[in-house]
Amino acid sequence: MQYRQLGKWGARVSSLGLGTYLTVGYTSDDDTSRAMVRCAYEQGINYFDTANAYAQGEAERVLGRLLAEYPRSDLFVLTKVWAPMGQGPNDRGLSAKHIREQCDTSLERLGMDYVDAYMCHRPDPDTPLEETVRAMEDLARAGKILYWGVSEWPAPMIVKANAIARELRARPIAVSQPRYNLLYRYPESLLYPTTAEEGIGNVVFSPLAHGMLTGKYQPGEEPAAGTRAADPRQNAVIKKMYWTDENKAKAQSLVALANELGMGAAELAIAWCLTNPAVSSAILGASSVEQLSQNLKALEIAMTPEIAARMDSIFPAPGESSEQH
Ligand SMILES: NC(=O)c1ccc[n+]([C@@H]2O[C@H](COP(=O)([O-])OP(=O)(O)OC[C@H]3O[C@@H](n4cnc5c(N)ncnc54)[C@H](OP(=O)(O)O)[C@@H]3O)[C@@H](O)[C@H]2O)c1
Repeated sequence: MQYRQLGKWGARVSSLGLGTYLTVGYTSDDDTSRAMVRCAYEQGINYFDTANAYAQGEAERVLGRLLAEYPRSDLFVLTKVWAPMGQGPNDRGLSAKHIREQCDTSLERLGMDYVDAYMCHRPDPDTPLEETVRAMEDLARAGKILYWGVSEWPAPMIVKANAIARELRARPIAVSQPRYNLLYRYPESLLYPTTAEEGIGNVVFSPLAHGMLTGKYQPGEEPAAGTRAADPRQNAVIKKMYWTDENKAKAQSLVALANELGMGAAELAIAWCLTNPAVSSAILGASSVEQLSQNLKALEIAMTPEIAARMDSIFPAPGESSEQH
């Protein structure tokens, strides 16, 4: 395993992390989840990613139970707040009240005294940034979180939040979690210059575009049973963001390139994410130990400029003026 610094900060995270969205506590049964967490830990993964909203708390509960088997100091655990957790007027967003209450609830579910990083899952336009920055600082001073971060916040909002943190002498944002994969390269122009400037680490999600980049979906064909795309409980994002014949054809070109190099498309797509110096970790999603083991092979790939150039020609970066989805 390789370990990378979280931006300018002292903590080191494994360059591949294990995520729990739509899998642990949801589609993956207990035995599969346990086996994946064990495989991850044994392969040196220290970064485990979850959120209060994943399976409405169940992902945190199952992950916490499984991680209890390992020394806490070996783990870097990140969870998130923002998504609705109830029907009440305060059961969502980034108010001081909701952040404080959800942090306590997440810690209880995880069975932990603190999380390594606590993340705003999306922006909350109804709460002043100052309130959120202070709420995170209060949690850090109470010993409940070590670092805080943001997911899918626009770069100008990150800059503003950090300016407020400086004014308040509060901790700035340490970690950002953008969507980043060969089919979604916007962070390269819209986010990474800012995170570099601010010393923020990026832990990137959906490195396989929900499985699209494995090449298991064929142009003109319906998804096979048992895949994320075939399951109405979990296919909303893949259908909305990636489900075109053009993308499926690009994934087939990636398969051809990977096969020529003697590897699979999944590990090649993940290795590509790690070549960007802005990336501290790529978060793996997996439905089985077999998938996880394949994806971990990304670490063995030596990306050459020639391979990277061939990948660029299949998946060109959007121009700086392109609109983000
Ligand atoms: N901050 C956020 O808003 C946010 C959003 C999304 C995710 N995340 C985090 O990032 C993690 C990863 O995201 P993701 O699940 O979207 O990642 P992903 O790598 O893009 O997709 C993972 C899915 O692709 C399929 N897959 C993975 N490896 C495969 C292989 N080798 N062969 C065939 N199929 C394979 C599996 O689905 P099937 O087997 O079911 O087809 C797997 O569950 C999440 O668990 C979560 O922790 C964060």
